Amino acid sequence: MKAIAKAHTNIALIKYWGKRNEALILPTNNSLSLTLDGFYTSTRVVFKEDLQKDTFLLNGTRIEGEQYNRVTQFLDLVRNLAQKNIYAEVESINAVPTAAGFASSASGFAALAAASSKAIGLELSDSELSRLTRQGSGSACRSIFGGFAEWQQGEKADGSDSYAVPIAPQNHWDLRVAAVVLSAKMKKVSSRAGMKRTVETSPFFKGWIESIPSEIDAIKQGILDRDFEKVGEIAEANCLKMHATTLGANPPFTYWLDSTMSVMQSVQALRASGIPAYFTIDAGPNVKVLYLPEHEEEVQQTLRSIPGVDDVKLSCAGQGITYLGDDE
Ligand code: PMV
Repeated sequence: MKAIAKAHTNIALIKYWGKRNEALILPTNNSLSLTLDGFYTSTRVVFKEDLQKDTFLLNGTRIEGEQYNRVTQFLDLVRNLAQKNIYAEVESINAVPTAAGFASSASGFAALAAASSKAIGLELSDSELSRLTRQGSGSACRSIFGGFAEWQQGEKADGSDSYAVPIAPQNHWDLRVAAVVLSAKMKKVSSRAGMKRTVETSPFFKGWIESIPSEIDAIKQGILDRDFEKVGEIAEANCLKMHATTLGANPPFTYWLDSTMSVMQSVQALRASGIPAYFTIDAGPNVKVLYLPEHEEEVQQTLRSIPGVDDVKLSCAGQGITYLGDDE
């Protein structure tokens, strides 16, 4: 009753921003992401008859409190599915630098879902695994797949049709992402709280939702055609629209810092100078920049020279869930 799984984080090009059901984590819109090879979590789960409760070690440290509760509540879902009442030892190694502003919850819950469902003897299809993962963390359901994946919001009230599907595999297109780490950090409104306030109070939320279906269709075509300008333009516009909804919320909020704006302007200046690059930003101040391999040097140099930028971490397209042997 043991398994080890590795999952990579993902960056959304069309954002998940809004829930229609908080408990089941059902979104108000489809979203689409690229899984990244640089940042991953690997998790080992062992179910044992003699345990009195679950245990959770993260990078060698025993975890209690809120983070532990999320893990054990997720394992309850797995136990329920398997109809087995048995506790687990969970050990995770997280190679997602929190400073880079990636939600480690995406790779974390994808690896936990894969390892725990396998260890307990469930034989899930990729769609079933994605649906299970969604209930740990929404954006994590896209990390089941490598390359480009779309989370289909679904229509059913029980969430049975809300999971990610693959759009194009890792080797389809060598698209690169630079994660720009900013030195000044501010206290972040969690994505959960930010979405809730936006859905409940922002008059711009309606426009956000209405604009998604045509963007999803267009970006999917752009990905299949490997049309960088098209994909970049849609991703950047979608990010700006998501962040605009927060300015309309009550009370209003933004995730941006002055250095966030500096990076955005530098990316637009790069473009004006003939180097195609586009930005996207999640629920935090850090910026992710999309570019093609032939422009890696110029893009990296430009980003590193911006005042307020601490570090730049480069990544390629990554793979979906993999299962590892005991010695890996
Ligand atoms: O899945 P969560 O709760 O970490 O929310 C993710 C929200 C965004 O990162 C802003 C967008 C996305 O689709 O990943």
